[in-house]
Amino acid sequence: MELKEKISNIFTERLGGEGTFYASAGRINLIGEHTDYNGGFVFPGAIDKVIMAEIRANGSDKVRVFSVDINDYAEFGLNEADAPEQSWARYIFGVCREIIKRGGKVGGFDAVFAGNVPLGAGLSSSAALESCFAFAMNDMFNGNTIEKFELARIGQSTEHNYCGVNCGIMDQFASVFGKQGNLMRLDCRSGEFEYFPFNPQGYTLVLVDSVVKHELADSPYNKRRQSCERVARRLGVETLRDATMEMLEAAKGDITAEDYFRAKYVIEEKQRVLDVCDALNAGDYETVGRCMYETHRGLSKDYEVSCEELDYLNDLAKECGVTGSRIMGGGFGGCTINLVKNELLEKFTSEARARFNEKYGHEPKIYEVIISDGARRL
Ligand code: GLA
Repeated sequence: MELKEKISNIFTERLGGEGTFYASAGRINLIGEHTDYNGGFVFPGAIDKVIMAEIRANGSDKVRVFSVDINDYAEFGLNEADAPEQSWARYIFGVCREIIKRGGKVGGFDAVFAGNVPLGAGLSSSAALESCFAFAMNDMFNGNTIEKFELARIGQSTEHNYCGVNCGIMDQFASVFGKQGNLMRLDCRSGEFEYFPFNPQGYTLVLVDSVVKHELADSPYNKRRQSCERVARRLGVETLRDATMEMLEAAKGDITAEDYFRAKYVIEEKQRVLDVCDALNAGDYETVGRCMYETHRGLSKDYEVSCEELDYLNDLAKECGVTGSRIMGGGFGGCTINLVKNELLEKFTSEARARFNEKYGHEPKIYEVIISDGARRL
């Protein structure tokens, strides 16, 4: 059944009548990983997988939400002390609180939501959820007076203050600003960005989802960020955006080997995003692909956010002659993004399925990337 129809049926059944539909998208990122919180560049786009919600103001000061996919219901007030227990509901509560903290309005509402963004795949289902509700609250209670970039920041602050992830701005930015057929190059320091029509002739972007998620207890994402901030402080710069390899080499004796390699990756990745933009402008997909492999190497060996299954998928892509491949998103599981010549597509995907299954006992999920629109009212 279509997502919209499914939500609508449940809304009518549980609440009666109807509300307004909103949706926001998951995202891919061509290149520029772990650069956002370092003031660098990212190159994401929204995809055709969304979180969708039907919402209706209820005139009270209570929020009542039903998650179709988790089959769970939450009810909460809008004061700081009213935070719900369920982690999925905290994304919505956080968005409401962040709007209120900024002087915006949020009233009580009833909502039913569901999605088709694969969870744990590194496609930012959480940013899609935040952006969907941030967009809806802006439309329903604030006459769309909150700027779009602020909606992305509201989602980001939700992660920081209500979900314990010190993330950058990329995912929420992509989810809010996504535009069909376009990637976006965002300068995370200035907030300036440009749309980049993406239609590589003769190539397809595919995601190979390992369907593994290594939940690591000690919040490794936040630790990576702390490493970067430590090195930036040591180098006397605001973020690693302003650091060079020369500066890093000069400070090598004063920082740990681990911090050195984390910062080295970030400094190199910053340049790769710009190189990829030039290569795309020149239609030079071989260079785009080479940079993707370099990113994977850096994420795996220097930044250490890969895992065995993703390294295996990356090696497999290389062996099959895939033009570019790398782990995508925060890491520790999830998927690889692959730039594949069309004539190789069938061979690569069937080999990936068969060989991964043989080694790890389950098939990866494979998705063709369709660059689509971000947050919207339907
Ligand atoms: C996660 C975060 C983003 C970004 C990526 C890595 O998706 O939410 O802000 O840091 O990891 O590039």
